[in-house]
Amino acid sequence: MKANELVNQVKSLPMVSQTALNLVAMLDKPEVDNDDVVAAVKYDSVLTAKLLRACNSSYLGLKQPVASMEQAVLVLGHSQILRLVLSLTFGGTMSAPLPGYAAEAQELWRHSLTVAFAAEALARSELRISYSPSVAFTAGLLHDIGKLVFSQVLTEERQTEIRAQISRNQLARIEAERQVLGTDHSEVGARLLENWRVPEEIVEAVANHHQPVCEPEIKLSAVIHVADCLAHLVGSTLGWDDYAIRVSTRVNDLLGIDRKTLETLLIALQGQAVNIERFMNLT
Ligand SMILES: [Fe+2]
Ligand SMILES: [Fe+2]
Repeated sequence: MKANELVNQVKSLPMVSQTALNLVAMLDKPEVDNDDVVAAVKYDSVLTAKLLRACNSSYLGLKQPVASMEQAVLVLGHSQILRLVLSLTFGGTMSAPLPGYAAEAQELWRHSLTVAFAAEALARSELRISYSPSVAFTAGLLHDIGKLVFSQVLTEERQTEIRAQISRNQLARIEAERQVLGTDHSEVGARLLENWRVPEEIVEAVANHHQPVCEPEIKLSAVIHVADCLAHLVGSTLGWDDYAIRVSTRVNDLLGIDRKTLETLLIALQGQAVNIERFMNLT
C-alpha cells in the first residue's frame, strides 16, 4: 500500500484551517513581522475568536485582557501566537481516542505536545542545533500525525494484524506497520503535510523521526528523534541507560548529549508538565 493512497482516504482529518497552515508556512521566512502574523489570522473569524479567548484565559495570566489580534501579537509575540494557533488547530483532532493505537483519549495529543516542548527546549539549548525554536516546536507537534491517518483509514482487521505482529514477532510498531501496510506512520504523516504545503524541513523531520538524518548536516529529524526519546522517558524512567537504548548513538554523539545534559533536559521537560496540561485544556 502506498502512503499517498492512505492519505487520500482521509476524509475528516484535514479539519485544519488554511490560516493555521499559512502561519506554519511563514515559519521558514525570517523576514516575517507582526503585521504579517496579524494579517494571516485576522480574516479567520472563528480562529480569531478562539485565539482571543485563549489569550485571555488564566493560562497566560495577562494583566490586561487583549481585545484584538494586533494587541495579542504585540503582547505575546509570534512564537506564542503560533503555539496557540497550532494547539487550537490540532488539539481537537489529536485528542480523540485512537482505537488502532490502543491509546487513551488525549494520549497522542499529550505526547505530541511533550515532544513539541522538548524539541523547542533542544533548539534553545547550547547543543549544536541550528533550527529555530518555533520550527522545532511545530515539527514536534506534528511528528506522529500519520497515526491519526491510520486510526481513520485502517480497518479493524489491519489494526489487529499490526498488533499481532508486535506481540508475536516482538517488532517495534513502526516495523510492524511496514510489514502489514508496506508503509508507516512517519511516511504517511510526511505525505499529508506535503499535501498541506508545510515547509520542507518540517516534512523531513516527520518523515525521518524514526531514522534520523545527520549527514551531511544534522537535520531536524535528528532533533525530533531526540525529543521523542525524551518524551517517552519522562513518561517512564529517567535513566541514561533507557535513553541510550532509544536514541541513535550517532545523533547523540553529534549533538554532544552526555549524562549531565540529559539530566538537565529531562528535569526541564518534567517542569513543563503543568504547561502541557494547560495547553491541553485550551482546546
Ligand atoms: Fe513516531
Ligand atoms: Fe512519537
